[in-house]
Amino acid sequence: MDIIFPLILAYLLGSIPSALWIGKIFYRTDIRTKGSGNLGATNTFRTLGAKAGIAVTVMDILKGTAATMIPLFIATDIHPLVFGVLAVIGHMFPVFAKFKGGKAVATSGGILLGYQWPLFLVAVAVLLIALKITKMVSLSSIILAVVAVIYTVIYTFYSQDYPFLIVILILAGFIIYRHRANIARIKAGTEPKIKW
Ligand code: G3P
Repeated sequence: MDIIFPLILAYLLGSIPSALWIGKIFYRTDIRTKGSGNLGATNTFRTLGAKAGIAVTVMDILKGTAATMIPLFIATDIHPLVFGVLAVIGHMFPVFAKFKGGKAVATSGGILLGYQWPLFLVAVAVLLIALKITKMVSLSSIILAVVAVIYTVIYTFYSQDYPFLIVILILAGFIIYRHRANIARIKAGTEPKIKW
């Protein structure tokens, strides 16, 4: 039980469906029936506006950060990144939303914030630059995942932090896999663009 409890806690933290709950509580809207139908920050911005979008972005990031920091509060030998990955799994397959959740981007960013915050700032910068160029959040997220892998492969030569490399590979895989429908729309030229 001592080993299992913090792992379940990480999954439950990630499972908090911020986009669903903020939409339902403050806007009486189920964003699963709007826009892309995705339970994420982008669809919240699109459907409910900036205030709700920012709130969901912050909450989804902090889920990953809080889970990664569990070992600071609960004694465990398990690597902090394991908790972060469990939060991302919770975010993608939330027990509180019929196991249909988001696309892993913000919560993965939260892991960076909790584990290595300078890299979080780099990730935000890469995302904003990609967004400025492509005007597509989905494509920018995929570009970010690829850049994070390249950066981490190089960084691992110096840091020897292999668990971090493995986790970045897993998260990049999650992000790209969860954007399958977006990739099809990008190819078809029908992916929505933001005005920026
Ligand atoms: O983080 C999700 C984003 O990259 C795409 O969201 O709603 O456009 O599918 P959406």
